[in-house]
Amino acid sequence: MRQGQDRDDKVLKLLRASPDLFISGQSISNRLGISRTAVWKHVMALRNMGYSIAGSAGKGYRLTPGRDTPFNAVEIRSRLSTEFMGRKVYLYKSLGSTNIKAKELAGKGVPEGTAVIADSQTGGKGRLGRGWFSPAGVNLYTSVVLRPRLDPPKCQGITLMAAVACAEAASKWLPKKPTVKWPNDILIGPKKAAGILMEMDAEADRVNHIILGIGFNLNMTHDMLPKDLRGTAASIMEKTGRTVDRAEFACALYSRLEKWYKVFVNEGIAPVLSAWKGYFDMEGRPIRVNSFEGVVSGICAGVDTEGALLIRTASGRVHRVISGDVEIVRH
Ligand code: BTN
Repeated sequence: MRQGQDRDDKVLKLLRASPDLFISGQSISNRLGISRTAVWKHVMALRNMGYSIAGSAGKGYRLTPGRDTPFNAVEIRSRLSTEFMGRKVYLYKSLGSTNIKAKELAGKGVPEGTAVIADSQTGGKGRLGRGWFSPAGVNLYTSVVLRPRLDPPKCQGITLMAAVACAEAASKWLPKKPTVKWPNDILIGPKKAAGILMEMDAEADRVNHIILGIGFNLNMTHDMLPKDLRGTAASIMEKTGRTVDRAEFACALYSRLEKWYKVFVNEGIAPVLSAWKGYFDMEGRPIRVNSFEGVVSGICAGVDTEGALLIRTASGRVHRVISGDVEIVRH
């Protein structure tokens, strides 16, 4: 990190606060407690990142809102209003997997809430050993480091809380709220727009860290998809016709994650489940579940108080599934 890079975002924040006005170098210098030369250096650094900043000798600096906001760590920090989620953010052009990088950072002791973002992933990981299609320039691929002081089995609820955070964040961009497919896929209509992969490093009675990975399809178009995903993957832009600003979306997501993570840690799973059920529309529908116990088909009977899926089979027996893959059976 360049020396003073952590202040680029503060200069950007001040410029963005008055988009149509020039703000003098002296005023920025007074507000940030830095010299006018330092202000100029930050402005130059921001211009090098792609920001269009007009400068006038007598008036100061003015940010000209561009069509494409740069997608970088400075942009994210300048928009973020969280206490710890995403406060420390590492953004890479390309990674194998943000989960792997976040795990490496967690091992080095980074603080809770540290986030990793990649513009693209070459080995994006999905649940159950699958991959996650991660082309450049369009979507959000992020992983955050969590360190809950909870018993490891309780932490399963973190995927549900993340699903609530994703659904809530996406609702701001969608005409109609998305739905969740148990346990944690976010759907727009019948197609999947986001997935969550939680990986835990724990001992018998304590969690060392959790890596919460989220992939959200924001601006990906149908023609970018490999053939096998064409019938099943969706993006927000495809639904609305409008481009989603990725930095703005990341900040909205981190803010919802912080809110729901605090709820989960302080109050337990009940309030999280109740919010999650507001996005869940599978109850009463015919489903097929593939779990380590085998395949069970029946009618979805909702979820229990721990978030396990309930399926009523033709014999009337209710099966409880804690982990698996669900398919909604369409006739
Ligand atoms: C799923 O199968 O539904 C989970 C997909 C999770 C994908 C995200 S993208 C960011 C993070 N890094 C990864 O390698 N995987 C997760």
